[in-house]
Amino acid sequence: MAPIPNPKVLFAAYPAGYPDVKKDFKYDTSESIDLETAPLNGGFLTKTLYLSVDPYMRGRMNVGGWALGSLFEGYGISEVLRSETDKVKKGDILYASTKFQAYQVWPADAKVRILPKTSEIPYSVYMGAAGMPGQTAYFGLKAVGDPKAGESIFVSTAAGAVGQLVCQLAKAWGLRVIGSTGSDDKVEFLLNELKIDAAFNYKTASTAEELKKFGGIDIYFDNVGGPTLDAALDAMNKFGRIIVCGHISMYNQKPEERYGIKNTYSMIYKEVKMQGMLVNTYAAQYSDEFYATVPKMIAEGKIKYSEDVTEGLEHAPDALVKVLKGENKGKAVVKVA
Ligand SMILES: NC(=O)c1ccc[n+]([C@@H]2O[C@H](COP(=O)([O-])OP(=O)(O)OC[C@H]3O[C@@H](n4cnc5c(N)ncnc54)[C@H](OP(=O)(O)O)[C@@H]3O)[C@@H](O)[C@H]2O)c1
Repeated sequence: MAPIPNPKVLFAAYPAGYPDVKKDFKYDTSESIDLETAPLNGGFLTKTLYLSVDPYMRGRMNVGGWALGSLFEGYGISEVLRSETDKVKKGDILYASTKFQAYQVWPADAKVRILPKTSEIPYSVYMGAAGMPGQTAYFGLKAVGDPKAGESIFVSTAAGAVGQLVCQLAKAWGLRVIGSTGSDDKVEFLLNELKIDAAFNYKTASTAEELKKFGGIDIYFDNVGGPTLDAALDAMNKFGRIIVCGHISMYNQKPEERYGIKNTYSMIYKEVKMQGMLVNTYAAQYSDEFYATVPKMIAEGKIKYSEDVTEGLEHAPDALVKVLKGENKGKAVVKVA
């Protein structure tokens, strides 16, 4: 078989503010690969099917993160084309940290998850509700939020990949849920599809007023930081818990431009607990439980999800910028093949 192109996405320059698709990324088509003869050195060869673009990638694009000229990397779904290891077989579908390239040779000891052959949910969902963002929601809510039926929870970026699952798990576990998001159609989605108790557009409504109307909150799942976190601090009930999961409102700002939180004083008399979390910290403890429950709940229609699909590896940078600008509607995925 003749070599075929093996295009890839490279990190080209440190962004000033929001990444610039033309300047900060490079779609490089100079490499080629012979799928039948490429040396595997005891490893295996895959074809990339889907890639995930996630907010944390913006942090890796700062000085001290990815090296300039390096390949973009993120969670992805791939199909094994050839293998020289017993660990994976031709035809296996894998979920793993994946290079942003059409074909990839992996070492035999690469850390991958083999997905079920007859999956009842689309493979792309293993990058969203049944993948890292879903785990973030599950681990954060369960391990850090300590939720109890009858309590109330506020979720920011409620219509996003993490937020959608937080909202639905909280409902399933007996909580009252209020969510914020950045457009009226996402508000409709939260109320009509996810059936949460209240939702508002934080760009047109006052977060403080909406939380007051809702009647105070026991848990805040913070995905944005900034003034929203300040409003939540003021609305917390006694012994409330704040899960600091993300601060996306500040990812494209310089440190000196970031909003300074004012309302921490209310933590004292309300005895509020605020804790940061990283998904990987909880993986050893909760991954098996997560994979035993969440994909099944999705397959049974008990958990809904929405995806924002971008077609083509060359458009992966556009998909990432869309997420950072809040233009995605649901889990942002790139369909490569
Ligand atoms: N701690 C961890 O281990 C961990 C793991 C995964 C994700 N996270 C964090 O979880 C959060 C959500 O991630 P995701 O993957 O689910 O992304 P997502 O919610 O699917 O997409 C990002 C969303 O953030 C919102 N947004 C963008 N710019 C904003 C701004 N300036 N102010 C307020 N909201 C803004 C937009 O939604 P709206 O239309 O609603 O504004 C956008 O759709 C992020 O902060 C991410 O960093 C943390």
